[in-house]
Amino acid sequence: IHNVIFESSHKASILVAQEIANLIREKSALNKLCLLGLATGSSPVKVYEELVRMHKEEGLSFANVVSFNLDEYLPMDRNNIQSYFYFMHEHLFNHVDILPENINIPDGKVSAEDLYQYCIDYEMKIKTLGGLDFQLLGIGRTGHIGFNEPGSHFNSGTRSITLDHITRIDAAPAFLGIDNVPRKAITMGIGTVMSAKRIVLLGWGISKAKILKKTIEGKITSQVPATYLQEHNNTTFVLDSDASSELT
Ligand code: F6R
Repeated sequence: IHNVIFESSHKASILVAQEIANLIREKSALNKLCLLGLATGSSPVKVYEELVRMHKEEGLSFANVVSFNLDEYLPMDRNNIQSYFYFMHEHLFNHVDILPENINIPDGKVSAEDLYQYCIDYEMKIKTLGGLDFQLLGIGRTGHIGFNEPGSHFNSGTRSITLDHITRIDAAPAFLGIDNVPRKAITMGIGTVMSAKRIVLLGWGISKAKILKKTIEGKITSQVPATYLQEHNNTTFVLDSDASSELT
């Protein structure tokens, strides 16, 4: 892995958006699909803002993009404003020309009996289309990527997981209280993420400094699932100065 540190998350986000845009254009010139693994949360918001700007002002087309979101709460209705489905449409999909049938977000309404097969199908769809060309990540204070909480296995695939208590605390404001935060989620696995050809993890702000030190400088352990990224050969951590402040 390697790190790039920027003064502001704004400049950093614009560069990440440019990398994604270049990839979309390169694939499009070859008449190929571009498979993007996408994250929600506060970290990627400015990246999506810039991609929307490029679509509107520079004609960047998402017609060849197939997106796969990392995760969704379980249970969760897609019409709920707290859903990741809602988030992605609000911040990106409603403002660009991606084909609705090319949008994949884990379904928070899948029934318990269909869940197992649903997760296998999600995984297979990514593989069948040739694998993720680019995976955008944030990081949780527990060291989760996607919702792969501490204890997640290196080879894990898409599955349902139980959210860590710290993750639920961090989500509580958006749900107006921790009691309203779902206890479970569907998430792509560590194995799913690690099979991406390119990974960029965004880390902004002082609240991420401690976990980023463990992730980048600590030993690889299932207790900090993001440390698995140390074994990926094309991962970049894009940080602002606060997030990088604990690094040696
Ligand atoms: C979201 C996701 C999570 C977040 C992480 C950081 O789809 O997969 O891993 O990236 O919880 O969230 P923010 O960016 O809100 O600090």
